[in-house]
Amino acid sequence: MQFPTTLLALSALIATAVSQSVNTSQEYNLKTCLKPNQPDKRRFENLYLYAYHTGAGENDAVFDAALTNVSAKGFLSPVTNSTVPDNNFQEFDLGTQPYPWTMIMADSVNFYAAWQPVRINAGGGSTSSDYGIETGFFINTTGLQWTSSPGNAGTAQDEFGGWLVCNWWHEGPQLFFRNIYYDTPELFTPCSCADVYLIPEYL
Ligand SMILES: *[C@@H]1O[C@H](CO)[C@@H](O)[C@H](O)[C@H]1NC(C)=O
Ligand SMILES: *[C@@H]1O[C@H](CO)[C@@H](O)[C@H](O)[C@H]1NC(C)=O
Ligand SMILES: *[C@@H]1O[C@H](CO)[C@@H](O)[C@H](O)[C@H]1NC(C)=O
Ligand SMILES: *[C@@H]1O[C@H](CO)[C@@H](O)[C@H](O)[C@H]1NC(C)=O
Repeated sequence: MQFPTTLLALSALIATAVSQSVNTSQEYNLKTCLKPNQPDKRRFENLYLYAYHTGAGENDAVFDAALTNVSAKGFLSPVTNSTVPDNNFQEFDLGTQPYPWTMIMADSVNFYAAWQPVRINAGGGSTSSDYGIETGFFINTTGLQWTSSPGNAGTAQDEFGGWLVCNWWHEGPQLFFRNIYYDTPELFTPCSCADVYLIPEYL
C-alpha cells in the first residue's frame, strides 16, 4: 500500500501548490554560463536545465546541451506577504502536469556540506519543505540567485555560494549549489565540476 499512500500525500501537496502559485513572469529556460578562469571546463558551458525523474513527483536538476521539449520552462512566483524584497519561488512548467514544479535547495546533508543538490519537485509553492528551502529566488544580471534566509529562520547569514554543475550521479551534468562558508582556498573543486551562472533565456 506504499504507492497509493504516496499518491494521496502528493495530491494534498499539489492542491496547496496550485492555490499559492502565481505566475507573474515570462517563461524562460535556464542556461549555464561558465564563470571565468575555468579553461578546462568548456563542456559545462551553454547547457539547458531539465528535470530528471527520480520518484513520484520528484526530480533532480540536470542539464543537456540541447534545448528540447523536456527542457524545464521556468518562471518566478512571488512569496505572498514576504518581508524580504524580491522573494520568489522558482517554479517550472514541465508540460506534463497541470500544476507547477518547484526548485528546492536540498538540505539532505543539513546545510553543513560544501555543496548540496537541487531538486525540482511537485507540490511546491510552500514556504517550508521537508526536503529543503523553496523560497528566496530572484533574477539579476548574473542570472538566477538564491538567498538562504527566507523560510529558514535559523539561518543568520546567507549561505548561497553560487551554482556548481557536476558530472555526478546521473548520466548528464547535475546542478548543485555551494555553501559560501566553504569558500576557502583549501577546498578543491573536483575536475568533474564547474562553477556557473544560470542565465534565463526568455521564451
Ligand atoms: C506564465 O505566464 C506566461 C506569460 O503570461 C505564459 O506564457 C505561460 O504560459 C505561463 N505559464 C504557466 C505555467 O502558467
Ligand atoms: C518530445 O519530443 C519527442 C520527439 O522529439 C516526442 O516523442 C515526445 O512525445 C515529446 N514530448 C513532449 C512532452 O512533448
Ligand atoms: C497577507 O496579508 C494580508 C493583509 O495583511 C492578509 O489579509 C492575508 O491573509 C495575508 N496572506 C497570507 C498568505 O498570509
Ligand atoms: C546578483 O545577486 C547576487 C546575489 O545576491 C550578488 O552577489 C551579485 O552581486 C548580483 N549581481 C549583480 C550584477 O548585481
